[in-house]
Amino acid sequence: MTARRSVDYSLYLVTDSTSAILGKKDLLEVVKAAVAGGVTIVQYRDKTSETADVVQIAQQLYEVTKAAGVPLLINDRVDVALAVGCEGVHVGQDDMDLKTARKLLGPDAIVGVTANSEEEASQAARDGADYLGIGTVYATPTKENTKSIIGTAGVQQILSSLAKQNHTVKTVCIGGINHANAQRVLYQTASPSKQLDGIAVVSAIMAASDPKKASSDLRQLIATPPPFATSASKPQLSPSDLVARIPTIIKTMASKKPLCHNMTNLVVQNFAANVAIAIGSSPIMSNNGLEAPDLANLGGSLVINMGTTTPEIRENHLKALAAYNAVGGPTLLDPVGAGATQQRREGVKALLAGGYFDVLKGNEGEIRTASGAQGVQQRGVDSGASQLSMEEKIALVKETAGRLRNVVLMTGSADVISDGERTFVIENGHELLGEITGSGCALGTTIASVMATWREDKLLAAVAGCLMYEIAAERAAGRENVKGPGTFVPAFIDELYLIRKESLDENGQWVQGAKVRAA
Ligand SMILES: *[C@@H]1O[C@H](CO)[C@@H](O)[C@H](O)[C@H]1NC(C)=O
Ligand SMILES: *[C@@H]1O[C@H](CO)[C@@H](O)[C@H](O)[C@H]1NC(C)=O
Repeated sequence: MTARRSVDYSLYLVTDSTSAILGKKDLLEVVKAAVAGGVTIVQYRDKTSETADVVQIAQQLYEVTKAAGVPLLINDRVDVALAVGCEGVHVGQDDMDLKTARKLLGPDAIVGVTANSEEEASQAARDGADYLGIGTVYATPTKENTKSIIGTAGVQQILSSLAKQNHTVKTVCIGGINHANAQRVLYQTASPSKQLDGIAVVSAIMAASDPKKASSDLRQLIATPPPFATSASKPQLSPSDLVARIPTIIKTMASKKPLCHNMTNLVVQNFAANVAIAIGSSPIMSNNGLEAPDLANLGGSLVINMGTTTPEIRENHLKALAAYNAVGGPTLLDPVGAGATQQRREGVKALLAGGYFDVLKGNEGEIRTASGAQGVQQRGVDSGASQLSMEEKIALVKETAGRLRNVVLMTGSADVISDGERTFVIENGHELLGEITGSGCALGTTIASVMATWREDKLLAAVAGCLMYEIAAERAAGRENVKGPGTFVPAFIDELYLIRKESLDENGQWVQGAKVRAA
């Protein structure tokens, strides 16, 4: 019997005997294959069979798991666990309470509990649960209750709260976890102080045509960080250190001519394309999700400009996002007008739940909506039209970036940018940018282009893109012949081009104009 304290929770299989999931396969054979493929713990869940059958199946399963040294837990049924003599039970919030289960099973049994909130998690930890099954992360075909869906943000919140109370209880998450999202879920749920010990899956293995391969593939994914992950510890940078590094970053982009793949529906293509060419990247416009994998392999980055969203466009966005995530190609989400309509709010939510964005860029309202779409209570932020103070903006940007584990840029007269650990305020730019169409979009293109060639520290890349863009605007606006938006546009494109040329010539003087402070 596996010692209670040394259980490996990394790949936790929850069985499902319903034909919708299992199909015509034999439960025992599937579990055998899964264990052979590397599942580290198994929970037998069967809400429908008669007790006698449940005991018999559990006995057979125990033969399989015992031989492999993998613990077997029974869902909800302490009586069955006792009858079989297996390692323990998993109890839901509506099942037998943890303390009673522990009393019946004794001190050596493994007892796990489902937790959907901070309160449930701390209660179970205090009561001595060995591990928590935190969820529901995403909607699943196995459970219909959508009220309990908490997303990666909710899981992270629970982990932080457990860490704050010094609870060392083990944790797995459950709900809609599969091969496509396992790495990202592990990455995005991690809080600086506590991370998941594993993932629990049902249909990703139970419904697979080759459960052994499905299991070993998942083990492989769990053991490796996602392709878009960057090294955990980033250098703390003073604003002057940061600024000093910018010209090299721009030079790198200009000399590599990265591809910037754009998915947008807006009619400002001409301007954004000119900006892309001026800064030294090559723009490509494609809204076809099916060709995204080929484009992702060309080493560029992806900009998704949400604009108008229909379910069909969203499907294409998600396909492209998956393609770039799979190869670690940098991605930027520009949730244009995110708060304006229910369609758009749902669009942001689906995109943030469906893949990883290295950068989320938007104005105050868009960032607030995107942050709220994660289903986490926004502290100190009401939903009215009121403007946030600078302190509130900084807090919101930092918190959202920490939650998404990415870079969040809130644009405005002063831009706030953070990766959750390092936060800066940039006070460059010119009001004429607000007088032309597509300027926000073209900023997204610029940042994404820089990220394509500077992947290791995406905060640095995003600041570099911002500064190049905004300092070019200041230089353009300062030209004598620029009288307004009409004369500004060509001057601006010229200045972007000139900054690129200067950077290629190792002349980094332009960055002296940077107005960056730490926040
Ligand atoms: C957690 O541990 C730290 C360091 O040992 C201690 O300072 C803190 O008071 C503890 N917090 C709680 C809630 O027990
Ligand atoms: C690039 O992206 C922006 C949106 O971020 C869009 O407005 C523009 O049309 C795109 N340009 C090209 C050349 O694809």
